[in-house]
This record gives sequence, structure tokens and C-alpha cells, in this order.
Amino acid sequence: MTNPIIRVEGVNKEYGKGKNTVAALKDINLEITPGEFIAIVGPSGCGKSTLLHVMAGLEQPTNGRILLDGVDVTLISERDLPKVRAEKIGFVFQSFLLIDDLTSYENIEAVLWPNEELRKDTQEEMTLEVLREVDMLERRDHRPMQLSGGEQQRVAIARALVNNPPILFCDEPTGNLDSQTGETILKMIAKLNKERNMTVVLVTHESSLTKYAKRIIHMLDGAISSVR
Ligand SMILES: Nc1ncnc2c1ncn2[C@@H]1O[C@H](COP(=O)(O)OP(=O)(O)O)[C@@H](O)[C@H]1O
Ligand SMILES: [Mg+2]
Repeated sequence: MTNPIIRVEGVNKEYGKGKNTVAALKDINLEITPGEFIAIVGPSGCGKSTLLHVMAGLEQPTNGRILLDGVDVTLISERDLPKVRAEKIGFVFQSFLLIDDLTSYENIEAVLWPNEELRKDTQEEMTLEVLREVDMLERRDHRPMQLSGGEQQRVAIARALVNNPPILFCDEPTGNLDSQTGETILKMIAKLNKERNMTVVLVTHESSLTKYAKRIIHMLDGAISSVR
């Protein structure tokens, strides 16, 4: 069997203290193989975003281990974490999270700045390449306010791709879009899974959006309730 690209071992996550403690994740165990398209579904508040955040190293679990491509992200120092994240993962959010003052092009290129080994012209090439891949070359000089929701999400997807990470995490990526635009975005994500062989972890509360996934994990109240 191929080694998992993501391995979640006995992960718990608690927020708050004492009487106000919320157990957002309860003993989560999960293995995801390279190139897999997996969907995590469940009602609002069941812990989907928390799970995605701890898998992506955006938040630390209270206990348990997360292995990304063999690297235990719970052991990496705060200082080294951004580099590991940049290499291993792309993250797409429901609310796009683009920087308002930057153009499409600049929003994507900004992700490459910390990498001092990349020459300026290489950065430009990489940025244009992903803009082309999401069909946004013609809107490269537009700012987020001048773009539709679907276009903003395409720029956000390009930003997630530009470092060429093996894993793409998507948290309700179509939640702010009309259903037709949402379908276009889902198809784009499915295409990246197929053509780039990217591992995709898609979180959604709508089970109708899981049709491209090969495996569906259902969550309820912080725990995995079923897998199919
Ligand atoms: N930063 C936080 N502080 C306190 N509680 C939180 C925080 N983030 C999430 N929670 C709680 O953890 C639970 C799971 O939240 P979340 O992962 O956002 O659920 P979902 O994405 O499935 O809607 C909820 O009860 C939520 O209120
Ligand atoms: Mg959420």
C-alpha cells in the first residue's frame, strides 16, 4: 500500500477552559492517500473547519499527531511552519481571503516572495501559469472588488496552486457562490485532482457537493460518524 500523504492520529481539539470547554474534535483518525479526492461533510458546527485547520498546520491540536507527507506538523516550530505549509499545501477558503489592495496577479505573486531562491522572472512565469490555468489571465490587473465572486475564487485557487503543493484543502469553497458558479469551481477542483494528481480535501455542509469525491467522511459533533 502507498504511504498516506496525510495521516491524522488520535487528534483532539479543545477550545476554551473549564466549564466553557468545547470539544471541537474528538479522537479523529484518518489516512488520505496521494491523489485522493476526499470530502468531509457534516452540519454546521460539527468540526469540519477545525479538522481542516489542524491538518493544514493552521492550528495546533490539543493532542494527537498530524503527518503531512511524512512530516509531523505538530512538532515543527512556529518559525519553520510557514515554509512547510507553503511546500505541502494550498488552502481555499469560503470567503476567498484575497488582499483588497492587490491585483489578481499581485495576490498570487505575493505568496512567492518569501522564497528567496526564486528569481523575479521565474516568479512571473509561475504566476502567469496559474492565472492561465484558472482562466484569469485577462483579469490579471483587476482588484478583488472589480471581480465577481467566482472570479475571486478562481484567483484564490491560483494562489493556492502557485507553489505547486501536493495537497489542496478547500473549506466550503462554493459557500459564497450561486449554484452554477459553484459547479464551475467544483469542476475546476476536480480537474486539478485529476490532471495534477493533487490530493484534495473538500469540506462542505451540503452533501450534493460531494459528487466528485471518491470517499466521503461524515462528521457529527466533533467525531467521524461514517466513511463511505
Ligand atoms: N476559535 C474558536 N474558539 C472557540 N470555539 C471555537 C473556535 N473555532 C471553532 N469553535 C467551536 O468548535 C466547534 C466546531 O467548529 P467548526 O470547526 O468551525 O465547525 P464547522 O466548520 O463544521 O461548521 C463549534 O462548536 C465552534 O463553535
Ligand atoms: Mg466551517
